[in-house]
Amino acid sequence: MTDTPDPLASFCTALPKAELHLHIEGSLEPEMMVALARRNRVAIPFRSVEEARAAYRFTDLQSFLDIYYAGADVLRTAEDFHDLAAAYFDRAAADGVTHAEIFFDPQTHTHRGVPFDAVVSGLLAAAGAAEAKHGMSVFLIMSYLRHLDEEDAFATLRMAEPWLGDLVGVGLDSSEVGNPPSKFARVFAASRDAGLKLCCHAGEEGPPDYVRQALDLIGIDRLDHGNRSLEDPVLVARLAREAVTLTVCPLSNVSLRNVDTLAVHPINRMLDLGLRATIHSDDPAYFGGYIAENFRATAQARGLSHGQLVTLARNSFLGSFLPDAAIARHLAALDAFAAGAAAATAT
Ligand code: ADE
Ligand code: ZN
Repeated sequence: MTDTPDPLASFCTALPKAELHLHIEGSLEPEMMVALARRNRVAIPFRSVEEARAAYRFTDLQSFLDIYYAGADVLRTAEDFHDLAAAYFDRAAADGVTHAEIFFDPQTHTHRGVPFDAVVSGLLAAAGAAEAKHGMSVFLIMSYLRHLDEEDAFATLRMAEPWLGDLVGVGLDSSEVGNPPSKFARVFAASRDAGLKLCCHAGEEGPPDYVRQALDLIGIDRLDHGNRSLEDPVLVARLAREAVTLTVCPLSNVSLRNVDTLAVHPINRMLDLGLRATIHSDDPAYFGGYIAENFRATAQARGLSHGQLVTLARNSFLGSFLPDAAIARHLAALDAFAAGAAAATAT
């Protein structure tokens, strides 16, 4: 007996899309974690793949981050970062991703004695191979850890100097509450001066004021999450007016208990309010699904139409850091896909 393909899953998988919110360390599947622990002779807090998966029950962002940083300890060499990213790019291509802008957290590794160069060279090797193998484009975004101080972020920016031509931007992630964007205003200004685009996680657990700080004190080019902006109508109107892209991660929001269930996820409201919202995967190895599953599960739970799904995919390209001509090419491919899908539905 063969399984009948689910039309919504097929649509969400085939939909051309850009992945703009993916932490490469969050794509470390338990199988690879166990294999790398063995390869590098590193002790991990799990005796098996099943035990690791069973531990992936989170009560908030910090309870996740504790496990995420422990898992990242198995990553030691350029080869490890290559293997991690290569596995992710294969999955992304199978999920209809035609352009990916991925975060990596250098400080998670340099603080353990892993050279910055090993991290970046491994990721770049995998990115180059994915471009050749899948025809997808890949950009790297270096994320500063906000639970550390600004001087540490400056040290990281200095380490990145030889690699600046290989990075498209910087981000800000880790424990949000108590670590507002204002803490990093100077290092973001220096990052901008170095030619990098600026992203910030804000409004995931933190208040709308952190989103306002990201706009006013950092001058972000893109907002990661941003869910709690919805508590402030004036802020929502501004985000809509300024066409700020919000990289929303529904399965992450449910796993980290920022949203009770997908059935009440505010993605429809965001679109109705005119926000340029998109759907992404955050840390898919920990949250139960990659980007196509985020689209599918959210569409099913919220009754999103094909038109709304195409809008979300369109927003992902509009919010990317690709040059305008490349964005236009991606949008044309998306339009062709949507027209083909509409014609197939009509017959
Ligand atoms: N690092 C990895 N995933 C994250 C998230 N969802 N929020 C903040 N920091 C992160
Ligand atoms: Zn994130």
